[in-house]
Amino acid sequence: MAAVVGDRGSVRQGEAARTGLPDASADVVIGEAMLSMQGDKAKAAIAAEAARVLRPGGRYAIHELGVVPDDIDEAHYTKLRKDLARAIHVNARPMTAAAWKQLMEEAGLVVDWVDTAPMALLKVGRNLRDEGLGGLARIARNVLADAELRRHVLRMRRTFKRYERDMVGIALVAHKPE
Ligand SMILES: C[S@@+](CC[C@H](N)C(=O)[O-])C[C@H]1O[C@@H](n2cnc3c(N)ncnc32)[C@H](O)[C@@H]1O
Repeated sequence: MAAVVGDRGSVRQGEAARTGLPDASADVVIGEAMLSMQGDKAKAAIAAEAARVLRPGGRYAIHELGVVPDDIDEAHYTKLRKDLARAIHVNARPMTAAAWKQLMEEAGLVVDWVDTAPMALLKVGRNLRDEGLGGLARIARNVLADAELRRHVLRMRRTFKRYERDMVGIALVAHKPE
């Protein structure tokens, strides 16, 4: 990360709910694939921290796991969450667009834009585009060489496939009111 940022800024590693940054010090806060894995309280704490460090008019952008539709059957949603947690070994809680929006609004932000894309996690075509042939070959080699890892990846893949109509990638952009 430091190599990417270079002398355009500084890189710190820390807890997203307690960044240590001053109030209203950021133009933009970006969170990528790190809220879905938090419980409700931690999600709210991180969104509140983003709102605190943003200057008025500043933007918070997130990219996370979504579920559709907003009125998804409650029992099906509970099963999806349980199966996902079991498969990826993280108590992931993907949410509906309405719930992601509510999270932002409860942090005092105004949501400007929401969009979703089909679930592409562990899809070979998508991995190839993202990682390139060399990257995909390296991942495949590692997975093939380790039986436990192979079982784990295949289980994740089966679960993503089972719920591919229910799960989406979701992105939101919100701003802090003036
Ligand atoms: C699924 S990965 C996302 C990867 C990252 N966006 C990237 O492109 O490489 C989730 C990351 O969020 C980090 N993370 C999870 N909870 C966090 C928290 N409360 N504070 C800071 N980082 C956290 C994890 O350590 C992990 O590196």
